Amino acid sequence: MTLGTTDNPLRVAIVGSGPAGFYAAEALLKREGVEVDVFDRLPTPYGLVRLGVAPDHPKIKSVIRIYEKTAAQPGFRFFGNVNVGGDVSIAELAERYHAVVYAYGAETDRHLGIPGEDLPGSHPATAFVAWYNGHPDYAGAEFDLSHERAVVVGNGNVAMDVARMLALTQEELATTDTADHAIEALGRSNVREIVVLGRRGPAQAAFTNPEVKELGEMVDADCIVDPAEVELDPTSAAYLESEASDKTHRVNVDILREFASRQPESLGKRKRIVLRFLCSPVEIQGEGKVERVVIGRNRLEAEHDGRIRAVDTGERETIEAGLLLRSVGYKGVPLENLPFDEGRGTIPNENGRVLDPETGGQMAGHYVVGWIKRGPSGVIGTNKKDAQDTVASVLEDLDAGRIPQREARGDVTDLLAERDVEFVSFAGWQAIDRAEVSRGEPQGRPRVKFTSVAEMLEVAAREDAVVG
Ligand SMILES: Cc1cc2nc3c(=O)[nH]c(=O)nc-3n(C[C@H](O)[C@H](O)[C@H](O)COP(=O)(O)OP(=O)(O)OC[C@H]3O[C@@H](n4cnc5c(N)ncnc54)[C@H](O)[C@@H]3O)c2cc1C
Ligand SMILES: NC(=O)c1ccc[n+]([C@@H]2O[C@H](COP(=O)([O-])OP(=O)(O)OC[C@H]3O[C@@H](n4cnc5c(N)ncnc54)[C@H](OP(=O)(O)O)[C@@H]3O)[C@@H](O)[C@H]2O)c1
Repeated sequence: MTLGTTDNPLRVAIVGSGPAGFYAAEALLKREGVEVDVFDRLPTPYGLVRLGVAPDHPKIKSVIRIYEKTAAQPGFRFFGNVNVGGDVSIAELAERYHAVVYAYGAETDRHLGIPGEDLPGSHPATAFVAWYNGHPDYAGAEFDLSHERAVVVGNGNVAMDVARMLALTQEELATTDTADHAIEALGRSNVREIVVLGRRGPAQAAFTNPEVKELGEMVDADCIVDPAEVELDPTSAAYLESEASDKTHRVNVDILREFASRQPESLGKRKRIVLRFLCSPVEIQGEGKVERVVIGRNRLEAEHDGRIRAVDTGERETIEAGLLLRSVGYKGVPLENLPFDEGRGTIPNENGRVLDPETGGQMAGHYVVGWIKRGPSGVIGTNKKDAQDTVASVLEDLDAGRIPQREARGDVTDLLAERDVEFVSFAGWQAIDRAEVSRGEPQGRPRVKFTSVAEMLEVAAREDAVVG
């Protein structure tokens, strides 16, 4: 019987329910004769849209409406609270599905590789973000906010998010879906100055225009830029004037110059966000915790390929700080028995087809989308085209007979039941969603998140009992 028909549907497992997983499901379900089961290790779907996007940017999260439409389609099932690689293995999925699409993102962080990086008080931004967004794995995390100065390393949009979150007022936080524990801790925070360190210059910053502009419009924080640090070196100036320059970079520099030109009398808010450039932390010091950060001054050098890199000049300065957040990029982790590129933190692939490193050929029936396919960069929408490209490969393989026909090994629900894995269906998630929203209503907040898996399972189980 032909595979990929209503009588013999192509059954696809998607591992991860972030944007990439949902866009892959949407593209797959456009084709008749395809069924999709989406697995997530958390009881809640949507990945970084729920647990990464900053709580003071609620409009960004409205993309969830599109994912809800996908979830409402016939042929879609959600299995929350199922850890692939733990509760079920890849081999077990491969026995039950014709194709597996990996969409599990990039859950860990890159390191700086400097002395003192592991001192208490030095954290990856990944942990801080997960904590303020109510990720259940980070509900018990603690961040020392008792010192007046915090340092954020990195010049991407995540660095902008964490700097802003440290500078929001209690009143601003109180209207968001920031986790209660974070609202409470940030409300008591003594942090008055947030120093953001960019290793290269203003013309090379990775953040985008609205995100940096927002730092200059904070209710109770000034954004400070030293005019000397926005002066461009000849290479950067030539780059910005050239046709090859990126508009985002040009406008970033204009915004930063405007910040640098602000007169002292226009300042005076309670907090300060200080954007520094050509600065790298070279050592984190302190007796048993972060107390000081030694900063090295960089100069820029053009490489053969045109990339401009930061080179240490040897000049040093030391600043006191009690908290250091390293926002230098997320990193993917390997999954059992799947090929993995350690350097890039991605699954090697060609057009989304997972490649077997030994043979160089395709691992038939295995595909990849999103951050675990291309690395931790790109906004939510970037994952749509990315997922459509991979799904095009899946359907091409289906039509060419390259997808292995397998003996049916029963439904995954039997396996989960055998193992006592308490999974959350989409209806179960919707019950969690409704409960969170109704907890938020009296406080004028979009929702009050549950941060414990046990609580979420309890709410979901009530709904599943009703549905059942
Ligand atoms: C802090 C932060 C803020 C951001 N803010 C914005 C923004 O404002 N606007 C914007 O456009 N973009 C933003 N982005 C970028 C955007 O979030 C990403 O492009 C997008 O989420 C990547 O999608 P993904 O599906 O590949 O990964 P993810 O969103 O990370 O989804 C991966 C999913 O896989 C699940 N998973 C992991 N391991 C397993 C496993 N073993 N078994 C089952 N499930 C597993 C995870 O729980 C998660 O749900 C932000 C990114 C970050 C880090
Ligand atoms: N509002 C939004 O739209 C939003 C919000 C958050 C995230 N996102 C997106 O999510 C993606 C990930 O964001 P991100 O901020 O994690 O990553 P990113 O954009 O790749 O930025 C990483 C930053 O870390 C710096 N860095 C790397 N290694 C370093 C080191 N050893 N020392 C000092 N600095 C170092 C990089 O500098 P170099 O350039 O010198 O390498 C860069 O400035 C991005 O595409 C981002 O746009 C979007």
